[in-house]
Amino acid sequence: MKVLVVGSGGREHALCWKLAQSAQVEKLWCAPGNAGIAAVAECVEIGVGEYDRMVDFAVSREVGLVVVGPEAPLCGGLADRLRERGIAVFGPSGEAAQLEGSKDYAKRFMNRYGIPTAASATFTDAEAARLYVGEQFAAGKKAVVIKADGLAAGKGVLVAEDQAAAEAFVSECFSGTFGASGSTVVIEECLYGEEASILALCDGKTIVPLVSSQDHKRVYDFDCGPNTGGMGAYSPAPVVTPEISAQIERDILKPFLAGIQAENLDFRGVIFVGVMVTDAGAKVLEFNVRFGDPEIQPVLRRFDGDLCEVMRLTAAGQLDQAELVWSDDPAVSVVVAAGGYPGRYAKGFPITGLEDAEKDGAVVFHAGTAYKDGAIVSAGGRVLGVSARGKTIREAIDHAYAAVKKIHFQDCFCRGDIGAKALARMEK
Ligand code: AMP
Ligand code: GLY
Repeated sequence: MKVLVVGSGGREHALCWKLAQSAQVEKLWCAPGNAGIAAVAECVEIGVGEYDRMVDFAVSREVGLVVVGPEAPLCGGLADRLRERGIAVFGPSGEAAQLEGSKDYAKRFMNRYGIPTAASATFTDAEAARLYVGEQFAAGKKAVVIKADGLAAGKGVLVAEDQAAAEAFVSECFSGTFGASGSTVVIEECLYGEEASILALCDGKTIVPLVSSQDHKRVYDFDCGPNTGGMGAYSPAPVVTPEISAQIERDILKPFLAGIQAENLDFRGVIFVGVMVTDAGAKVLEFNVRFGDPEIQPVLRRFDGDLCEVMRLTAAGQLDQAELVWSDDPAVSVVVAAGGYPGRYAKGFPITGLEDAEKDGAVVFHAGTAYKDGAIVSAGGRVLGVSARGKTIREAIDHAYAAVKKIHFQDCFCRGDIGAKALARMEK
């Protein structure tokens, strides 16, 4: 089968890396891809927002399956456009993608189907939102969470622990800092606990969770500093015990599927549920309609099945026939980022040690790299995801960091504590 993957990050490299191992894949393209992806797929110079060119390419090359990686083209209806032309797609419709594209839409969906989540209120008026914030603090709440509606690349959320900061952020949202996504604001109760990422395949009839994982959202060790797209991840997440896993299936995934069906949403792809594991069980923080990045990196390092077959069946509405084969070995991925990220950072620094890093079984996924004068250079904020498997989580962590040590580019940095929470929990 001819397969086209849309995107250019670590997620798409991990997907291409696994898809390239499938005997079913006779040709693999990635648009636009990056320098690492070029080693396993043919990169095509079409941007993720160029829907006409993407559709034309898929039609003219007789692509049998398109896998849409990022949320923006999903929310923009790329999957619908491809399906209209008879092409099988792994990725939900634009309408269903609103589950990620609009926090208010997602909240209303969760409330309709009794899916546990933080209590919330939605505002389209700044003054009313500020008043509500004041009421919450006056009622003794220690924090509120403010979310600009719509896609804001992870920047539109503030967990505010004092009223002044909360009010200032509300004003910032309505002043247009986050573009159109700031005209509606969701304010919700702050949940306490440990976060985990649940990725589940769904074809509208069946929903199948993948192994659990956990991201590290803050930029510095001990969860300090601003939020990022994710600085590292591991799988499994020990906080997702067998009991929590069963509760997630019962209270979140089953009602999710029932909701999709009741509303006739075309959902053939992956639902990524960000949960907070609280004392009262797992509650949903957010829905995303694509694989978590970096979470998908350690998850796919543990996947021993045929990814092309599983994605093809999902796209065809035959997920019940898919076979998911997992290794028990934990896996870890450590993100190597450009100095300054998630703020301003420079690009174009040559990267050394990439081959050496993979000598002992580690796999380096490229998140933001490019070729310049024949050399691989940094080309993004998150540059690489260095992944490894081990017999234990400690072994996987040590193995990943040993590989990270071999890699260098100017001003690069990584968190030193990826996986520490898992270790602490296992050693309790
Ligand atoms: P979201 O984009 O909605 O997942 O929010 C981004 C991050 O903000 C999450 O990963 C959490 O760390 C935090 N967050 C979001 N909602 C809440 C909440 N209700 N309580 C506590 N933290 C939250
Ligand atoms: N790592 C979190 C995300 O992909 O949104």
